[in-house]
Amino acid sequence: MPSSLNLDSYKQAIADSYDRRSSTYDEGEWRKLICEHLLSYSQVHKRQAVLDIGTGTGYLAIAVAKKVGSQGSVVGVDLSSKMLNQARSKVKEIKLSNIQFQLADAEKLDYQDACFDYVLCANTFPWISDKETTLKSWYRFLKPGGRIAVHTPADTAYVGSVVLRRVLATHNIELEPSNRLGSIEQCKELFATAGFRNIEIKQEQHGRYISFESASAYWKSIVEAPTALSLKISDDISQCSPTQLAEIKSEFEAALVTQQTEEGIWDNLTTLYVLGQKPDVNQPSSYKDESQ
Ligand SMILES: C[S@@+](CC[C@H](N)C(=O)[O-])C[C@H]1O[C@@H](n2cnc3c(N)ncnc32)[C@H](O)[C@@H]1O
Repeated sequence: MPSSLNLDSYKQAIADSYDRRSSTYDEGEWRKLICEHLLSYSQVHKRQAVLDIGTGTGYLAIAVAKKVGSQGSVVGVDLSSKMLNQARSKVKEIKLSNIQFQLADAEKLDYQDACFDYVLCANTFPWISDKETTLKSWYRFLKPGGRIAVHTPADTAYVGSVVLRRVLATHNIELEPSNRLGSIEQCKELFATAGFRNIEIKQEQHGRYISFESASAYWKSIVEAPTALSLKISDDISQCSPTQLAEIKSEFEAALVTQQTEEGIWDNLTTLYVLGQKPDVNQPSSYKDESQ
């Protein structure tokens, strides 16, 4: 695996953004909760070979390595070398030998066919640009009967970004074109098109009331700040005059105000866990396709 990657500007911005956040990334509890829920839905078990996509600082990969045991193995891939450095130092400290981390773009992996029992992906799938093609490649890496478990926020999650997307759309500016998966049905269709069967979607609601300030902070992080997210819309935004931008911002804030209640603004944090399986052609009789 290479020690550096030749990335396009979108991917480079993601890598840079996570490089910057790597030393404090583990302070957040929300992502750990997601990893734990994904792992429990997945039912990964002993002796399995697991690929962890967008492994970051290795929270999920390490938990999986303990679960699959010494006869199992885990490969964690990520675009950000600094996130991987954090992961490697944790593994060194706890002396786990069945886990390795590779600097790689999850959309350009070149593993052999049928070499993993499980593909896991937590807190990362929205970043994948070409979701269908990428899922097809992950499908290829799975052994027959192998499984996938992918976490993704639903379309309704993060009210600030949902409202901003709607307001920008009225100005013909598309926010995060490939970021979310859409409805449950679209989600199922995407995984079925990639070849997966027995598709099941677990939903959780982590919604809460947030302040107007938190909801409106999306303006700064998406439109003003030079983050990976803003890259997707920066071309369109750069065409806007300061007056137009001020107008869009006040429309955004006015739209948020309409959602204000005494408790705050409801942030519908629906979280989806998509589970699927690669059919095992050698076992047609026991194979039950529940996705049909
Ligand atoms: C929010 S973090 C999640 C880390 C870890 N899965 C967790 O839940 O703690 C997203 C990670 O995905 C990585 N990532 C984003 N796009 C990627 C891609 N195309 N290939 C590999 N890694 C990617 C980022 O560098 C970042 O480390």
